[in-house]
Amino acid sequence: MEVVKSGQSLKISERLPVVRNSYEHSLMRKSAYIASSALKRALNSIRVGISELELNRIAEDEIYRLGGDLSYKSVPGYKFATCITVNEEVVHGIPTARKIREGDLVSIDLATVYKGWHADCAWTILVKEKDGKSNKEKERFLKVGEEALWDGVAQAVSGNRIGDISEAIQSKVEGLGYHIVRSLVGHGIGKKLHEDPEVAGYGKRGTGKDLKIGMSLAIEVIYTKGTPEVTLDKDGWTYSSADGSWGGLFEMTVVIGKRRAEVLTDWRHT
Ligand code: MF3
Ligand code: CO
Repeated sequence: MEVVKSGQSLKISERLPVVRNSYEHSLMRKSAYIASSALKRALNSIRVGISELELNRIAEDEIYRLGGDLSYKSVPGYKFATCITVNEEVVHGIPTARKIREGDLVSIDLATVYKGWHADCAWTILVKEKDGKSNKEKERFLKVGEEALWDGVAQAVSGNRIGDISEAIQSKVEGLGYHIVRSLVGHGIGKKLHEDPEVAGYGKRGTGKDLKIGMSLAIEVIYTKGTPEVTLDKDGWTYSSADGSWGGLFEMTVVIGKRRAEVLTDWRHT
């Protein structure tokens, strides 16, 4: 989600995070199952020559087949199931007719709504090059982003605070030489795609709202190889790294637990 410093969004972040009951969680779990199935299908379909629109269609078909709807339709002006970003693009890419090529870093971000409950997830993969030369560096870049996501998720337990998630993500990404984008953050999720509180990928341990059992969050690692700055492309949606370096995106919807978070959108085990 984009950080908007308007009076209204400041007021929203002052509200207490919402804690869900078990019936609500069961609906969110179903929504998340639909989201992770769609993400898995789309990721498994990535290959040289397929277009972003075809990947979007695969995700969309799966969401409808499982009885879900497109959460991103709740964003004014957006009508796709997914956001697809390649290489220097970081988030919010509109799927186009552009075809995937060898060596591309491809992120797919999608969210679903089921009986009024939202789930959001994203992942980035490498389309390997035949000569394998630049694969190593790109693989390391993705490994760090994924590890940062799980480090953040590991902090999503009651008794901790939002800043504990943020710092865990930041220290992994920056400790290994990459950069967290400052203007884009994770978020609460549930009855709406974007809810209070913001869950930044940068911050200080021991700060921010207390995490309570049952809160649902979309934890996001939004990072680049070269700079924490992003610029908005001419299409009015896509954010790319300001210096043209690679962007990566890893996101999971989780529910805060006592000893560990319940990860709702783990497409690898769907
Ligand atoms: N998953 C994105 C986020 O949480 C939402 C994309 S909204 C869209 O920020 F309209 F750009 F699709
Ligand atoms: Co999100």
